Amino acid sequence: MSKITTSIYRPTPANLRRLAAALRRGELVAVPTETVYGLAANALDARACRRIFAAKRRPTHDPLIVHVLDLRQAAALAEISPAAEKLARRFWPGPLTLVLPRRSTVPDIVTAGRDSVAIRSPVHLLARRLLRLTGLPLAAPSANPFGYVSPTTAAHVRDGLVGRIRHILDGGPCRVGVESTIVDMRDPARPKILRPGAISREAISRCLHRAVRLQETGRPAGNARGELAPGMLEQHYSPRTPLVVVGKLTASVIHAAPENSGFIYFEKPSDIRLTGQEFWLSRGGDAREAARNLYAVLRRADQGRFARLWVEAPPGALGPLAGAINDRLRRASAGR
Ligand code: TXA
Ligand code: MG
Repeated sequence: MSKITTSIYRPTPANLRRLAAALRRGELVAVPTETVYGLAANALDARACRRIFAAKRRPTHDPLIVHVLDLRQAAALAEISPAAEKLARRFWPGPLTLVLPRRSTVPDIVTAGRDSVAIRSPVHLLARRLLRLTGLPLAAPSANPFGYVSPTTAAHVRDGLVGRIRHILDGGPCRVGVESTIVDMRDPARPKILRPGAISREAISRCLHRAVRLQETGRPAGNARGELAPGMLEQHYSPRTPLVVVGKLTASVIHAAPENSGFIYFEKPSDIRLTGQEFWLSRGGDAREAARNLYAVLRRADQGRFARLWVEAPPGALGPLAGAINDRLRRASAGR
């Protein structure tokens, strides 16, 4: 791939029209959503989608999420069971992705050859503007090099993909900060959460009036690779600096850590002398604030100053976003 110039666009009406035209031409545009920035392409254009994999250096066996305006657009791409429709009506637009039996309209590259397709309808105004202006479904994985920490600002996208994509739409920091909840609805009688996010398992269970299982991370039983979202792989969302997750950053943990360590607290500590090695996910111990800050903090702590990062897991009782943060931290630290 030859070197190309990367531009960040303010969300003016003229720029939105320009970026919509670029998408229609088969180009890539990094787009803000409420969860993380996505790297978007026309989901019906296999060549355009192939460019996503090239820019991210993403293996082609890892399928993409398709973003749509509404249920009607989703129904052109997938079979919507009554249960899936219930979830969509309850949680769309928003951070919920449904894995559904695909239709033949979806190119193989998008689904990695599977018979299912992952679809979500984002609530972010700018993502919706582009969906409306293009009239297209937009395939968009997170706009980061494969395996690295997801981007929650336009600058994060540029840091990872500069020279590899032309267009980044700047919508400011993402409001949720961690990726959407993914529910496998291929079999409506056996819904399964493949990735935890802001929409909780309990909320999904309540909506469906049935228990919903949480897919365990790591290797599936047997060698049924097709059963597992590749994003469920143990190691993912990883900073370059080795990361250790601890229940609590106590004085004894800090004392025992090597000198060139960075410490990421869940809540800003009030009782320690700051030495420049400390970071925090929230000021007041709020899981929503922590999720919003998670990837920005990991990126700041991952700039080569430290040989190891120690990060506090949020208490699980703080709700779905605490669960999502713990899930991402576990995977960011896996294999280390
Ligand atoms: O919040 C989000 O979902 C963000 C924004 C941009 O919408 N997108 C996102 O995409 O996180 P990505 O590619 O980073 O993660 C998508 C996950 C991957 O783990 C992929 O394996 C899984 O969705 N996935 C996609 N299609 C699937 C399918 N048919 N079956 C199972 N998993 C699928
Ligand atoms: Mg991703």
